[in-house]
Amino acid sequence: MSFLQSMASLLVSCGLLMQQTLMELSPQNDPNGLLLVNREWRISSEYYPQVRQAQVSGQVRRLRPEAASALEEMYKAAKEEAGVTLVSVSGYREYDKQERIYRAKLKRVKGDVEAANAYVALPGASEHQTGLAMDVGQRSLSSDQNLSGSFGDSRGGKWLRENCWRFGFIIRYQEGWEEITGYESEPWHVRYVGKTYAEMMHENNVPLEVFVQLLREDTLMKLLTEEGEMK
Ligand code: DAL
Ligand code: ZN
Repeated sequence: MSFLQSMASLLVSCGLLMQQTLMELSPQNDPNGLLLVNREWRISSEYYPQVRQAQVSGQVRRLRPEAASALEEMYKAAKEEAGVTLVSVSGYREYDKQERIYRAKLKRVKGDVEAANAYVALPGASEHQTGLAMDVGQRSLSSDQNLSGSFGDSRGGKWLRENCWRFGFIIRYQEGWEEITGYESEPWHVRYVGKTYAEMMHENNVPLEVFVQLLREDTLMKLLTEEGEMK
């Protein structure tokens, strides 16, 4: 084997090793970490997180305990600071429920898969199945207004956008991020990531996909540096 061939094969092995390490560092391999769920990173139909009813007004109020507590705190602050009553529209959804929602959407858009996919995730690809996502509404709005751009323009929607990070939530699907997140803007859909990460994402104004990639690269760099230092 020539020198060049040896170098090329070394680079390929390094690349594969890096890819494998990145996979091992994947948020999907750490149930306590920053879980990423989207079309690329799906969860199984058997994924059942522990959830509880959040003590707030509205429907489908179940979330993971830490997210439910953060939601309660956030709704209380919205009332105190902005005088608005936020409500729960849709929180935890099992795989089968997401499947029904997707099918119903597909029917409404007369089988147009692209139109259905713009707003509704396929079963296994929805954050609602993680128990960490909530569709937030404002009590004074109608149900149609709540899951639409009207919510974003409402007092509650504006307050949510500016303040949700303080309670550990991010607005997951924002304008300008469609190519990265795969969805149209949803000012009502918040995702719990914890206060530290929420603040970092808010300050840097990046979608979860980008942030998770940066974290993984950072961890990989640290691993490589530590290995280098040990030699
Ligand atoms: N509307 C979001 C993308 C979901 O269905 O999970
Ligand atoms: Zn949602």
